[in-house]
Amino acid sequence: MVSPHEYARSQQPAFLEQLKELIRIPSVSTNPENAGDVRRAAEWLAADMRRIGMDVEIVDTPGHPIVYGEWLGAGPDKPTVLIYGHYDVQPAERETGWDTDPFEPVIKDGKLYARGSSDDKGQMFAQLKAVESLLLSDAKSPVNIKFLAEGEEEVSSLHLGEFVTANRERLKADVCVISDSGILAKDQPSIVYSLRGLTYMELHVQGPDKDLHSGGFGGGVHNPAQALCELIAALHNPDGSIAVPGFYDDVLPLSAQEREEIKKTDWTEEEWLRITGVPQVWGEAGYSLRERIGARPTLEVNGLLSGFTGEGAKTVLPAKAMAKISCRLVANQSPQRIYELVRDYIAQITPPTVRSEVRLLHTGEPALVDLNSPAIQLAITAYEKGWGKTPVFVREGGSIPIVADFQRELGLPVILMGFGLDTDGAHGPNEHFDIEMYYRGIDTAIYFLQEAAKL
Ligand code: BES
Ligand code: MN
Ligand code: MN
Repeated sequence: MVSPHEYARSQQPAFLEQLKELIRIPSVSTNPENAGDVRRAAEWLAADMRRIGMDVEIVDTPGHPIVYGEWLGAGPDKPTVLIYGHYDVQPAERETGWDTDPFEPVIKDGKLYARGSSDDKGQMFAQLKAVESLLLSDAKSPVNIKFLAEGEEEVSSLHLGEFVTANRERLKADVCVISDSGILAKDQPSIVYSLRGLTYMELHVQGPDKDLHSGGFGGGVHNPAQALCELIAALHNPDGSIAVPGFYDDVLPLSAQEREEIKKTDWTEEEWLRITGVPQVWGEAGYSLRERIGARPTLEVNGLLSGFTGEGAKTVLPAKAMAKISCRLVANQSPQRIYELVRDYIAQITPPTVRSEVRLLHTGEPALVDLNSPAIQLAITAYEKGWGKTPVFVREGGSIPIVADFQRELGLPVILMGFGLDTDGAHGPNEHFDIEMYYRGIDTAIYFLQEAAKL
């Protein structure tokens, strides 16, 4: 008799090699040039799922494919767990600060360095390898398993919502588990109960109809780069809050009790400076760091484009300027409504010397998890067994847009069972995944599937 945990332990080297194989496929969803790679990653994943005995379909979408696998061998009277993850990754170019090739995994000090190692190939794989450990050991799985992996999470799950709505019956389950977030610290497991939403926009400012000589025209034309900066500067108040009228209207206030709870998972100022490298903390007055990240909305400039940025000097007065701007939203805020508020405010404050336009790129809904669902209790037990410690509950600042669809369309309790660390460098250079977290994650995910039999 080989138990699932014994199987997992004996397979650790293989599980690591397989993860490295998947990571070598640069499935960057935002770059059209990588579309073939994204498909290759989907096919690789589908093959691995078939190998362990799942029925798998690659579902084509107008964007990147969805990989859907099922194992219903536990029987119709047994609970079903829907596992979700994403196999697409953020872009990564060697020259953006990487010490090694982002798509050639390297192990250093017990960590696996590569794009996607943590977000989300490594974490998703911890779930898949837990499934494998159940299906290929003598125990078999006590629950039915539905595994949904998408290739468009990093571009706001453009087509997955439609698939979920059209496949309500097929995706029917008792609980959904997702490993695509972090835990508080290596020795302190945590369960995420709040994710922020997102409204992603572009702000375009047009000045003259073509680039002009800055000597011949500068002083008589409102420079669009300057006008853009003036508009951006008007989006925040001096106290760090957002100046767009109505922006906070739908934000739910935190109870005194929750604020007390949040204190327990807050960063110290010193930790924050160490993780980020900034010289001083910044943010909305009256809120702690964890509250600013987990319970308050933000407005960020993600990028700026205007004029001459090459080597040396060019005396030009640019014709246009553009900023990428996104808002992180909290539960009860509507991404569409926030777009309209920002758009209308920009229109109102744009001076008559330039023209402006705010374009909506994409949105993602915020989500709150019900901490009183029975499934949460099972997740707590799974972490206690896998980590030897009781998890705490944490609000996160990132977004997983499909979570709200799982809750609304499928009526599912969602468990955000992350195995990453906020020092993993997700989306940045030298992203890595602690190999010990990978193995502990697999163990914990096995415990969760076993616990889920009680649902
Ligand atoms: N895994 C992250 C989301 C996340 C990060 C959740 C940290 C909890 C803690 C996910 O892959 C991600 O990056 N999502 C994007 C979504 C966006 C493109 C709609 C994000 O948050 O920027
Ligand atoms: Mn992710
Ligand atoms: Mn991500």
